[in-house]
Amino acid sequence: MYKKGDKIIGKIEKLVFGGAGVMRVDGGIDGNGVARRLTVFVEGGAPGDEVEVEFFSLKRNLAMARIVKMIKPSEQRIEPRCKHFLKCGGCSWQFLSYQDQLKVKSEEVFESLVRTGGIDREALDAVWKPILFMEDPWYYRNKMEFSFNRTVDYDEREQKIPGTWQIGLHMKGRYYDVCEIEECYLFRPWIGEFLNKVREWLPTVAEFGGQFSSLIVRRGTGTGEVMINLLVENGELNFEQSFLKMVEEFFAVSGSEQDKLTSVFLTQIINIKGQRKEWRETLLWGAPVFKEKLNLGNGRILTFDVAPQAFLQPNTVQAERFYALIRELAGLDQKTEPERQKKIFDLYCGTGTIGIALADKAASVVGIELNSPAVENARINAEQNGVKNMEFIVGDVARVLPERGAEVDLVVVDPPRAGLHNSVIATIAATRVARVIYVSCNPATLARDLKIFLAAGFTLEFVQPVDQFCHTYHVETVVLLSRAI
Ligand SMILES: C[S@@+](CC[C@H](N)C(=O)[O-])C[C@H]1O[C@@H](n2cnc3c(N)ncnc32)[C@H](O)[C@@H]1O
Repeated sequence: MYKKGDKIIGKIEKLVFGGAGVMRVDGGIDGNGVARRLTVFVEGGAPGDEVEVEFFSLKRNLAMARIVKMIKPSEQRIEPRCKHFLKCGGCSWQFLSYQDQLKVKSEEVFESLVRTGGIDREALDAVWKPILFMEDPWYYRNKMEFSFNRTVDYDEREQKIPGTWQIGLHMKGRYYDVCEIEECYLFRPWIGEFLNKVREWLPTVAEFGGQFSSLIVRRGTGTGEVMINLLVENGELNFEQSFLKMVEEFFAVSGSEQDKLTSVFLTQIINIKGQRKEWRETLLWGAPVFKEKLNLGNGRILTFDVAPQAFLQPNTVQAERFYALIRELAGLDQKTEPERQKKIFDLYCGTGTIGIALADKAASVVGIELNSPAVENARINAEQNGVKNMEFIVGDVARVLPERGAEVDLVVVDPPRAGLHNSVIATIAATRVARVIYVSCNPATLARDLKIFLAAGFTLEFVQPVDQFCHTYHVETVVLLSRAI
């Protein structure tokens, strides 16, 4: 049995959802005290690496370890593009070619559905579609949230005093420490320069009795409109105009038709112990929203106003493609009248984007979502895209759905990572629905839920992973289930 601090040598077998490499060695025990292989998760290990690792966390047959020596690097390894790789907590797999990353993600989804979902390999093969990947897997994000951290200095009496402000991304597994980002290949080429400009500006701000919290930079991929939102906690604000001037100066030089400053916000979070947090959003300049366009490839271009707090799928190019895929699976573009009379439920609808993408060919769409600001956005989004047959309900799907009755033809679910509650699957199964489209961002919960759907009489018709978050371990999957009614 190993203990913390012990070192072993081994070979990384594969990568897993969560990003780490995995190796298996002797020395574990199961719940009955019987010897078993120990599964060791190694951050930054690539499949095929021979490494010496040191344990920093151990349970009976699971352990976490860090690489202390690279004995023989894997032949699959490539030079990561970004100098902050594995330091900033963003990308986890830049050391593999994009093709190899796609292979790992596809295998992860396939094996989860077999292992946890109990789906027969051949049956899965028959409905499996190759992963929907990006032609150019760089600069794809439409939103970045950078965090601030303040270093600690010491005065002449060795007393702690506040040091300088840093801005970047949180290092993996660390709550406070940030990696000071100077380049990022997931957002826009100018982002490193912009953060440097912010770094030059920070020391010019006089003490204001509060904390810089985060800087959110968003850009409509289809419009080039940029929204900047600086979040601070508490304090007496004295820097609004100098912040605005700094941002404007940057975009006067770095802006273009592809990147045009549209909106600058300052959000002050009033956080007083024992009181409810209060968010005060001030528009310093420009429009209260930025616009994003989604081209669904069927002649329909949707426009969304995006307010500072509103959710939008972070990869617009892939969102356009998988929304178009959902439309295809829904069979809405078929010409026959019954197909156009469909009643649809868009569950976990966020700002209503999926429902809005389907509404023009449906009889009606009901969107259900827990987050009320998202639903406010959804209502505006529906209106400005000319959608009049969509209704939105704020509430927990598990509570609201049973009250909506059984008359529905198509249900789309896009739940958070935890997946669907058993009762939600049971309620869906008790309706007259013939098709369910499941959009998942977690292969493990997808597999668990599919097992229940299949036991309830649904048939698996279509499974396609979608790469929305290139160079990270995240993977989206779109699934179609059907049954005869
Ligand atoms: C993955 S997002 C889907 C967003 C949307 N479908 C889209 O494409 O932009 C999941 C959504 O589920 C919502 N949510 C989480 N738990 C919920 C619940 N119990 N009932 C209803 N909505 C919930 C979240 O607020 C979030 O907007």
